[in-house]
Amino acid sequence: MDSDTIIDSTLRTVEWKNDKVIMIDQTKLPNDLVFVEYDNFNQIANAIKTLVVRGAPAIGVSGAFGLALAVLQSKATSKEGLLIDLEDARKILFATRPTAVNLGWGLEQIMSVAKTGDSTDQIIELVISKAKKMADDDIDINKSMGKNGSVLFENDDTIMTHCNAGALATVAYGTALGVIRATRESGKNVKVIATETRPIQQGSRLTAFELKHDGFDVSLIPDTAVGYSMANGLVDKVVVGADRIVKTGHVFNKIGTYQVATMAKQHGIPFYVAAPLSTIDLETKADDVVIEMRKGSEVTGIGEKKTAPDGIGVINPAFDMTPPELISGIITEKGVAVAPFEESLKKLFQAN
Ligand code: MRU
Repeated sequence: MDSDTIIDSTLRTVEWKNDKVIMIDQTKLPNDLVFVEYDNFNQIANAIKTLVVRGAPAIGVSGAFGLALAVLQSKATSKEGLLIDLEDARKILFATRPTAVNLGWGLEQIMSVAKTGDSTDQIIELVISKAKKMADDDIDINKSMGKNGSVLFENDDTIMTHCNAGALATVAYGTALGVIRATRESGKNVKVIATETRPIQQGSRLTAFELKHDGFDVSLIPDTAVGYSMANGLVDKVVVGADRIVKTGHVFNKIGTYQVATMAKQHGIPFYVAAPLSTIDLETKADDVVIEMRKGSEVTGIGEKKTAPDGIGVINPAFDMTPPELISGIITEKGVAVAPFEESLKKLFQAN
């Protein structure tokens, strides 16, 4: 294909270059900033599964790029044959992680566009250009979301965030960290408190890394210090990302988000969620959202080091649900939704 995706000034998590997908290998951060190159959709599926790439919008775009590789890999000579190969790849990519709605959304966007092609050549062209456009759109959406959210934050605010909803969780710029970036770009001085985010430390490995990379004043706390920080006046506001938001305003995000939101409520601290409309699932009920359960070794050790006895039982959910009554506002690229969310979220979609 002739042109590649646009590079943004901050960290670029995933891009399309010379008919290959380039990604930052997030399992190597913060010690090494290394890029991996893939030319096969199975490699992308594996990268999503093993968290080489993670974060809801980033896996949505990665899934789309996976299908772009699949059309190039296919040996089909007819439109029908190519669509069958594409559907096989879609299933493999979709099965990698269940909670973030963006993955299914990204795959569906590509499947719909593929079906409009008349020939294999046209389908290849359409799929690749749609996947690249989704990547570029993701950055624009994050910037609009950032602007919409920045008005909610004051000069000299200290903002707590949980997990990583930054450039590394999107194509670039970030959702929750995009709001923090936009607040700084609007001329306000802000400090950040990042939770470590056990068990696999997206807060310390990724958020602390990316904010330090971009020159923010960021302090790291263990997850267990959320209550202490709020009770001692160290936090003015909270902003986190989301993997799936259902129409009632229930937010599914990294495990521990519910605790942070509950503690914020206890201390009268505004708790915001920043997410694109592609993270909002108007179909699924909160009770039906599948929470990914991850392997026990993430809890019984830190990295390679064992920190628990052999044979111990482990419960390791990757996500939890924060109910709408704990949420001050949902920041999107189309505006900020407030309670009652069923109405306000619907309005944002109508504004689309
Ligand atoms: O398991 P992860 O690292 O993919 O979980 C990521 C999160 O929970 C993020 O907060 C969420 O995807 C929002 S990303 C903009």
